[in-house]
Amino acid sequence: MVSVIFPAAGHGKRMGLGFNKIFTELSGKPILIQTLLTFSRCDCVDELIIAVDVNEMEVIQKVLSKIPRLKPYKIVAGGSERQYSVYNGLMAVSPDADIVLVHDAARPLISETVIQNVVNEVMLSGGAVCAVPVKDTTAEINEMGFIEKVPDRNKLWAIQTPQGFKKEILVEAHKKAQEDDFLGTDEASLVRRTGRAVKLVMGSYDNIKVTTPTDLLMAEMLFSHKTA
Ligand code: CTP
Ligand code: MG
Repeated sequence: MVSVIFPAAGHGKRMGLGFNKIFTELSGKPILIQTLLTFSRCDCVDELIIAVDVNEMEVIQKVLSKIPRLKPYKIVAGGSERQYSVYNGLMAVSPDADIVLVHDAARPLISETVIQNVVNEVMLSGGAVCAVPVKDTTAEINEMGFIEKVPDRNKLWAIQTPQGFKKEILVEAHKKAQEDDFLGTDEASLVRRTGRAVKLVMGSYDNIKVTTPTDLLMAEMLFSHKTA
């Protein structure tokens, strides 16, 4: 059984709307709903766990109750950091789940094909995240703003979600992060700290995280051309 956790409890500060960006409409429906609908169309997905701000729980419950064709879902309280939101979701996953995916609610352009490919790779490798080769040259800079190092671009990938793991691997990684007071930006970094390997799966350049107003414009355009 495959459960998917959606961290959705942020405040969208960089979007600058004054409210959580997951409520912003994309092609007539809130970003959160578009994301949940894509996962609900996947045969391989069995359960959705949505981590939301406690103050938004009621309104999200109400909105979701009116959406037909969603897979069975649970709403849980989010935390003050994305990692804590994911942890709360993990604690609510069905005891029957053997694979858990984590997907940012703010990535509504995810395709069913990429979701399936991540699940397939988790079955083979235990842990898999989707990613794309970086297009720009990247640099490490010093405090003065001068370039110190330019890593070889051919070896660099930009990590996206979904990130999927066998359930016990993700639980172990979150427990260890908690013990060590470690805060990571994604699940792969937590899992790698436990000494386990994480495989990359080809994601999509369309699978952007809607973070800034420009991303929202891009998302509208990409959504209108979206295919499975
Ligand atoms: N998220 C969460 N709990 C938090 C912070 C973030 O569940 N305490 C979720 C967001 O809702 C989003 C995903 O994690 O779906 C990725 O985070 P990000 O893009 O950073 O969203 P925000 O934190 O809302 O945006 P910002 O950092 O600009 O405030
Ligand atoms: Mg954030």
